[in-house]
Amino acid sequence: MKYSKKAAAALLSGVLALQGMPVLNPSAAEGDLLVTDFEDGDVKAFSKRGDEDTSVIASTTEDAHSGKTCMAVTERSQGWNGPSVSLESLGCKPGVQYLATAWVKMKWYNTVRLSMQYTDEDGEQHYDNLAQIISDGKWVQIPVTKFSYTSGMKDVSIYIEGNDKAEMWVDDFSLTAAPVYEIQKDIPSLKDVYADSFKIGCAVTAKELSPKSTQDLILKHCNSLTLGNELKPENMLNQKATLAYLEETGDNTVPQVKLNGAAKIILDFCRDNDIPVRGHVLVWHSQTPFWFFTEDYTAEGKVVDKATMLKRMENYIKGVFEALEAEYSDVNFYAWDVVNEAFSEGGGPREPGKYEDGNGSSPWVKVFGDNSFIEPAFEYARKYAPKGTKLYYNDYNEYISSKQDGIIKLATSLKAKGLIDGIGLQSHLNVTNNHTSDPFPTAGQYEIALKKYAELGLDLQVTELDCTYDDDVANGEKLQAKYYSDIMDAIVKYKDSISAVVFWGTTDDQSWRADRNPLLFNEEYKAKPCFESIIDGIEYTTAPYQEPAKKTTTTTTVTTEPSADAALLRGDVNCSGAVDVSDAVLLARFVAEDSKAQISAIGKKNADADRTTGITSDDVIAILRIIAKLD
Ligand code: GLA
Repeated sequence: MKYSKKAAAALLSGVLALQGMPVLNPSAAEGDLLVTDFEDGDVKAFSKRGDEDTSVIASTTEDAHSGKTCMAVTERSQGWNGPSVSLESLGCKPGVQYLATAWVKMKWYNTVRLSMQYTDEDGEQHYDNLAQIISDGKWVQIPVTKFSYTSGMKDVSIYIEGNDKAEMWVDDFSLTAAPVYEIQKDIPSLKDVYADSFKIGCAVTAKELSPKSTQDLILKHCNSLTLGNELKPENMLNQKATLAYLEETGDNTVPQVKLNGAAKIILDFCRDNDIPVRGHVLVWHSQTPFWFFTEDYTAEGKVVDKATMLKRMENYIKGVFEALEAEYSDVNFYAWDVVNEAFSEGGGPREPGKYEDGNGSSPWVKVFGDNSFIEPAFEYARKYAPKGTKLYYNDYNEYISSKQDGIIKLATSLKAKGLIDGIGLQSHLNVTNNHTSDPFPTAGQYEIALKKYAELGLDLQVTELDCTYDDDVANGEKLQAKYYSDIMDAIVKYKDSISAVVFWGTTDDQSWRADRNPLLFNEEYKAKPCFESIIDGIEYTTAPYQEPAKKTTTTTTVTTEPSADAALLRGDVNCSGAVDVSDAVLLARFVAEDSKAQISAIGKKNADADRTTGITSDDVIAILRIIAKLD
């Protein structure tokens, strides 16, 4: 088994990217953190997931995927049982992107998941699925997944689990540092291109935000940001505290709300860089735990009556705005989605039920019997949102006429009462409909929808724009470019009614529709033909690229003056007495002329690590070679 002491190789790429140098490809051997075919019988890097996990993890020569040996996980007693690898123990670091995959086999038909577990700053455990695959008793490969984590996430591990307790076999496990790419700094900034029309935004999750390139991409192109998941009820509601409050007071109408570490990562970034935020979302049938609706706050309980639910809704909305006001009163939440996706395609309410029941069932409809929960949601949002916050109803397939009729009727009534400011048009579009027909919607259909909504006299925001194709890349990207351009032409035509256009994601590989490449940038952060096509023909002036001047959520590197007896030590740029990655990062920033990266006189001597004249980027490499013990 190869363990990498070679985390430095991954960092090397990261540090090189920081200063605009050509980037190494860490998928080469040095970037491998844990790559094993188990042929040596060593399974030590894997452990079961805590005391309650009954898994027995051992090597076996029974039916390996490659070679003669693989890892067997037997005696699992729960779906979540399985082999886990601690990332810290391998030398992984926050903000670095990794690639992971493995071949797996389960005894019966089963969904096998590669997931990540971490503890947030409040000590709460989180579990995120990274990739999954079905094994029907045969070997299958978990799709290669790219992921990273942030410094707020502790005890990070990745693990393999299944749907049930069947035996599991794992072979050809691989965890490597992902190649690092820089953004293109010399292309126009979208926010400048559209400065006279509307804000340009994107959605991002805390995990996606950790690589510097993603931060750079957002800072270059966006003047609006949406938190992809972190402000949704499932993340804002705290069941433990809610139960404790009930126990203490006997009051079952005050769900407890908490801003968790992941939300803070993005909100800190917005505050530090003055990026206005679209709040998303207060009331939704999905990503809202069912316990929020039940008498005893358990997922199995009976739903409460309308009066109780109205109080819960009011207290929840109040709680969200109070939590944000307490810590982020200086972040500009210029818009909030109050209610999301309440209409069925036919224009009526959704089916009543648990979201988990399928068919898009809504627990809100289960309690209220219809869509009568929408108006009070807007009333409460108006009551508790900071003055000036614009309130939106947000939905998808907003161009299907029956659904559109429902939305327009609702919006007309809310507008008459002064409760709504605008409509959020999600705009999850498809350029090729599996080659069977025209795109859906056609640009023409989309434009007709814009016209109808604009006639309402409300503000419009395109809130989740992405556009998939089902084709080979060359042809698909061509069609996508033309389609995006037609859609943006329609949007620009109605610019007087549209205040923001927000893309749902940053780069294709991080999209929720990653298999159909729906965004403007590919996984190498490179602008795709659709980027070119949507700026083509527009007159703009664009500012040259500037490194973010303000602090961001990444580590800031500032040296302290060394004490008088600080010694000369090759590579010890910050004069800490040792040579480590912080020296490489500091030097990389110094070379890149980051004004915050100060180096003392002795530090400068130490910085000349390759012992040639002067401090150059070659010294960064020399330091990383020292750390990796290659020198
Ligand atoms: C909907 C929601 C978003 C997001 C996307 C999929 O459009 O409004 O919050 O969940 O689905 O990622």
